[in-house]
Amino acid sequence: MMEGYVCNTGHTFSYTFAITDIVPYISLRNLRNEIFEMRKPSNPFIVTGYHSPSYFCDREEELAWLREQFLNERNSVLYSWRRMGKTALVRHFFYKLQKEKTADGVFVDLLGTVNLAEANKRTAQAILNRFGGLEKGLGTALKKLIGSIGATVGFDPLNGTPQITFGMTRGQSVSGSLEAIGEFLAERKKPVIICIDEFQQVSTYKESNAEATFRTWMQDFPMLRFIFCGSHRHMMLSIFSEESRPFYRSAQIRQLDPLLPEVYARFILSHFRKGGKRIDPPQLERIFGWTRQQTYYVQLVCNKLYGKTEKVEDDLVTEVFGEIIQQEIPLFSSYQQLFTAFQWKLMLAIAREEKVESPMSQHFLAQHGLGAASSVSAALQALVKKEFVIYQDQHYTLHDTLLLRWLQGL
Ligand SMILES: Nc1ncnc2c1ncn2[C@@H]1O[C@H](COP(=O)(O)OP(=O)(O)OP(=O)(O)O)[C@@H](O)[C@H]1O
Ligand SMILES: [Mg+2]
Repeated sequence: MMEGYVCNTGHTFSYTFAITDIVPYISLRNLRNEIFEMRKPSNPFIVTGYHSPSYFCDREEELAWLREQFLNERNSVLYSWRRMGKTALVRHFFYKLQKEKTADGVFVDLLGTVNLAEANKRTAQAILNRFGGLEKGLGTALKKLIGSIGATVGFDPLNGTPQITFGMTRGQSVSGSLEAIGEFLAERKKPVIICIDEFQQVSTYKESNAEATFRTWMQDFPMLRFIFCGSHRHMMLSIFSEESRPFYRSAQIRQLDPLLPEVYARFILSHFRKGGKRIDPPQLERIFGWTRQQTYYVQLVCNKLYGKTEKVEDDLVTEVFGEIIQQEIPLFSSYQQLFTAFQWKLMLAIAREEKVESPMSQHFLAQHGLGAASSVSAALQALVKKEFVIYQDQHYTLHDTLLLRWLQGL
């Protein structure tokens, strides 16, 4: 018998049930994920998560790299600016591996975690989601794992999702729990690849040994393969390339660039055509320019246009840009509180220029009434540290394209 259940809404219930009670729920979920194909989407431009290869554009080169890394037992780091498509790429890779039956991918998302205990819970939950639904039930190995990490499994009565709960029984240390998880994965017949998404989060945990704990885990199970993803370029690079840190040179690093415009254009045109709709190449060029090819925003613009019309007109493109910005205004307005008046003014100046090569130049300072170069230097540092402003290809620009477009319109 097992007890303890925490529901998604945060309310905690105590619930006692035999382990067989939860099997039907887990099986259903697994059947849904692994056997049935998901229904065809009514709009081919997916803006949440990953669907299937038909709705995923290209990334052949990156996919080949991930495959090559895996086949040669190397760990990978994938980073890029936000919303470029890291998570979707790994999901695409795992989808292919699953179809080929060559490996099992486990996806652990550390977004929002603040300490090792939460990271451990996310990892255990990911294992349960991935392997907990075999038609036969939980399986001896998984039951043993759940017991040995001091967890219980409950389910959400609203949606039947199996959920792991720690703390209802006397828990183990995080490293002991990771060890048990590692053993479980290493004993599986097929190779396992673990993607740890938003990995930079680990370096913000209050425990000083957080990175070392994960590094030890990785070293203790050399036959598990890891993909570390993250959107904080600076933090990700520091974790893997600073000599003094545990993950120094433990994985190969790759940046995810925007999709090639001609390749993305072909993908978009073909989906419009298949749906009996029309969009013209010059309109695509405009969309790529406005979104700076940040994948999520291209998808969002195309999703809206596709949903609104049979034949895209230029005015509609303008209207959709406006609509997208409009939805973000409450958030963007709240950003102002995060900065001093001068930092905000500098951000506005950079947005107006779109790209700035020399923010300390007399021309830029005079043009935007920014005063002394030393004040700009200090404010710029603060903006870069918060990753609102980024430096790439020899210029400064805003990280978030929508914020940039909104500020440009003020
Ligand atoms: N190659 C692609 N083809 C079609 N859609 C894509 C592609 N890559 C990503 N997307 C879509 O773009 C959106 C953003 O992708 P994703 O969430 O993977 O980005 P990310 O880099 O992980 O972002 P974040 O930094 O916020 O974690 C998703 O809705 C995804 O469906
Ligand atoms: Mg992501």
